This record gives sequence, C-alpha cells and structure tokens, in this order.
Amino acid sequence: MLCNDELLKITNGKVTYGRSDTPAIHDVNLTFTRGEFVCVLGKTGAGKSTLIRTLNGLQPLSEGTVSYQNQTYSLKEAEALRKIRRNMGMIFQQHQLIPRLSVLQNVYTGLFGFHSTFQNVLGLFTDVEKSKARQILEQVELLPLQHQRVDSLSGGQKQRVGIARALIQSPEVFLGDEPVASLDPGTADRIFQLIKKAHEEQGLLTIINVHSVKLALHYATRIIALKEGRVVFDDVPENLTEELQDSLYER
Ligand SMILES: Nc1ncnc2c1ncn2[C@@H]1O[C@H](COP(=O)(O)OP(=O)(O)O)[C@@H](O)[C@H]1O
Ligand SMILES: [Mg+2]
Repeated sequence: MLCNDELLKITNGKVTYGRSDTPAIHDVNLTFTRGEFVCVLGKTGAGKSTLIRTLNGLQPLSEGTVSYQNQTYSLKEAEALRKIRRNMGMIFQQHQLIPRLSVLQNVYTGLFGFHSTFQNVLGLFTDVEKSKARQILEQVELLPLQHQRVDSLSGGQKQRVGIARALIQSPEVFLGDEPVASLDPGTADRIFQLIKKAHEEQGLLTIINVHSVKLALHYATRIIALKEGRVVFDDVPENLTEELQDSLYER
C-alpha cells in the first residue's frame, strides 16, 4: 500500500523522434494522483499525444523516467508493461474499434490482455465478465445496440463503445487522446459527461488530451498546457487566464 494516492509520475521526461533536433516533449515533471480529472491542452504539435503515449508505455522516453505506483517501467520490460497497461484504459480520436464486429464483441476486446489467445478466439468469457459487459454497456447507454455492428454506428456511439472497451478492464487510470476531436460540440459534451461519471463512480485518475479549452474549463480539476513540448501551465482551471489561452493557441 502506498501512503499517498500518487499513481503516475514522469520525471525529467524527454522524447526526441528519430534524428530530430527538437524534442517532442522535454523537461516534463508531472505527478498524477487518484481522483484527478486532468485535461491536457495545447495546439497541434505541442506534444500532447507524445506525453500520453509515454504514460502508458506506448512511447519510450529518450531521457527520464515514468513510474506507476512507484514502479518505473520502460518498453524493454514487456511483462511489467503488460501488467501496467491492464490498469490503464485508453480511448483514441479514431476509436480504433473493429468495424465488422458487434458493439459487445468490441467491448470484450478490452479483456484481451487478460486472456490467452485461445480463450479470445473462442470468445470464452466468464459470467462475471459477461455481466460486467452488460453493466458497462448500460452505463454508456448502448445496451440496446449491443449486437449491432460497430460500422453502423454514429461517431458519438462509436466513442461510447471505445469508453466501454476501456472500462471493462476496470482500469485505475483512464487516458484519452483527443477522444472528442471529430465530434460535434453537443456530442463531445455528452461523451465528457459519461467519462466524468465513470471517473467519479470508479475513483479513477483521468487524463485527457483535448483541443477545446471550453471542455477543459468545464470538466477538469487540473489543466496542463503544453507549448512546444514544455509544460507552460499546470494548475486548477480557474487560474488559466485569457492571456495564457491566447498564447497557447496564438489566436
Ligand atoms: N512518430 C513520430 N515521428 C516523428 N515525429 C513525430 C512523431 N509523432 C509526433 N512527432 C512530432 O512531435 C511533435 C509533437 O507531436 P504530438 O505529440 O503528436 O503533438 P500533439 O498531439 O499535441 O499534436 C510534433 O512536432 C510532431 O511532428
Ligand atoms: Mg495529438
């Protein structure tokens, strides 16, 4: 047991792609605790995706460390990484669902890290997992569509499947890389409501990259802003001034 709620930490994080002279992120020092709802802001190219990918081990750091519950991990430690990823549910802008499968089958793919390939292929899920899938589909209001093919759904519905697939793992950390970027404002808001509800009910640490300052101001308990790979703001939403908003997006 940890004596505090510190879950995720990146220390002196730096990522440089290929032979580029300019790092995608650098001098990043962030500690995240359970219960925080963090929105990461910054214009395209600021380093948001790179940051979130380092947190769940999809992207190795060029320098620095990432740790989960005080356990440092790197891409070289496949087994440790697999265990850590099980605790992290992730949703993406383009859903990354399997179009020809049903809503329910897509949700089950969230459990693949927990089963053998054999079980996965045969669709051998336990009763507990089945009832959990139902409960989660209910939570994201998709139960009536559970047998429908994902490619017949709207953008907002697809993103709800993405959320359900992430939640079925019972993650401690919920990560999103611009999950509402391709949705209209009303649908985007609805998706954020669902994420926030799950976040609160399950006591998660949630970190979401978002382009919309409005959504961040409305939902986040903490906002991190990146500019040219550096953290230029890390505070409660109330302290994000208009000037800083302008400078982030150079409006
Ligand atoms: N796979 C990659 N290879 C090379 N450069 C990359 C790659 N991914 C991102 N970059 C560069 O890293 C910087 C940060 O990108 P990214 O993390 O995608 O920012 P954001 O998500 O905020 O748009 C940009 O300059 C981008 O061009
Ligand atoms: Mg991005």
